[in-house]
Amino acid sequence: MTLQIRPMETEDVPAVLPFLRAHHPYRVLTEKAVRWRMANPTPHSTDLPLVATDGDGGIVGFTRSLLTRPEGRDPHGLTFLTAVAERYRGGDLAARLLTASEESLVERGARTLRTEVAEEPVQAGGPVLHEVALDQGYAEEETHHILGLDLSLLPPAPEPPAGVELRTFREYADDPRPVYELDRLASEDEPGAVPSVGFMTFEDWVNGPWNHPLTDLDLSLVFLHEGTPAGITCYGSDRRSRMESSMTGTLREYRGRGLAGYAKHVALLRAREQGFTHAATGNHENNAPMLAINARLGYALLGKETGYVKPVA
Ligand SMILES: CC(C)(COP(=O)(O)OP(=O)(O)OC[C@H]1O[C@@H](n2cnc3c(N)ncnc32)[C@H](O)[C@@H]1OP(=O)(O)O)[C@@H](O)C(=O)NCCC(=O)NCCS
Repeated sequence: MTLQIRPMETEDVPAVLPFLRAHHPYRVLTEKAVRWRMANPTPHSTDLPLVATDGDGGIVGFTRSLLTRPEGRDPHGLTFLTAVAERYRGGDLAARLLTASEESLVERGARTLRTEVAEEPVQAGGPVLHEVALDQGYAEEETHHILGLDLSLLPPAPEPPAGVELRTFREYADDPRPVYELDRLASEDEPGAVPSVGFMTFEDWVNGPWNHPLTDLDLSLVFLHEGTPAGITCYGSDRRSRMESSMTGTLREYRGRGLAGYAKHVALLRAREQGFTHAATGNHENNAPMLAINARLGYALLGKETGYVKPVA
C-alpha cells in the first residue's frame, strides 16, 4: 500500500487528534489547541507537522518538526510527538518520517538535530522509535521522568507554610506581568540540556503560553510569601478531566520553605473538586526537588523520555 508523507493541513486535524491521543495517552491534546498553534506559530520558530497517509488517505503516521532560531546562535531542529500506527511499525515508516522531518529542518537552516522518544506506555511504539533514532546517528543526551497521578489517590490537604497566600492566574488577567516575571526568573534554574532562545519577551509570553488555549487560568496559581509573589504552579487542561503541569517555580530566595509543594498540592485538590481525574508531568532526571515534591504528592513513574542529539553533517 502506498504511504505518502506530507505537511499536515487544517482539514487533517479531526483525524489526527484521535490518532495522536491513542499514541500519546498522557498528553493533553485538544483540537482547539492544535488549530491555535497552527494559526499562532511560536516566535523565532518554524513549526511543520507532517502526516503519513496510506492508500485510502487514512492517517497512519505523524511527526512534528520545530526549527528554532536563537539570536546569535545556529538554528536547531527538533522532531517530536512522533506516532506510527502499530501495523506499520515493522516497516520503514518511522525512519521515513524522521528523515522527512530532518530534511525539512536542514533545508531551513538547522545545524543541530534533536528528537525525543518516550517508553511505553507514555508513547505507543516508543521502543521502535528509539531504535530508529540510534540507527539514524542520534546519541542520547538527557532523560525526563514522565509521571502520572490518579487524583483520587492525592493525600489530604497539608498545613499551609507560614505566610503563604494563593491566587489564581485569573486574578492577574488584567495585568499578568507579575506572573511573567516569576516564570522568567524561576525558569532560569530549570535543569535541561536543550538550548532555548532565552526567555521570551513579555509580549511573546502573553501571545504564547498565557493565551494558549490549554493554559488553565483557574487551576494555575501564584503563591505569595507575606504578600510578595514568590512562585507559580501552572497547568494546561482539557477543562474536563485531564491536566498536565507546564511549570512550577519558586524564586531562589523563597526555596526550601515548602511553598511550591503546598501550592501544587492545593492546585491538584482544587482540580479534583472540579472533576479532574488525572494529572501528568515531566521532570528532568536531575531535578531532585521537583521529583521529591511529586513523589510526596503520589505521582508514579509512567516511563522515561529520552532526548537525542546529532550534529548536521
Ligand atoms: C523545584 C522548585 C519549584 C522547588 O521549590 P520549593 O518552593 O523550594 O519547593 P518545596 O520547598 O515545596 O519542596 C522542595 C522539596 O525538594 C526537596 N529537596 C530540595 N533539594 C533537594 C535535593 N537536592 N535532593 C532531594 N530533595 C531535595 C526538599 O526536601 C522538599 O521535599 P519535601 O517537601 O519532601 O521535604 C524550585 O527548586 C525551582 O523553582 N527550581 C527551578 C525551576 C524548576 O526546575 N522547576 C521545575 C520544572 S519541572
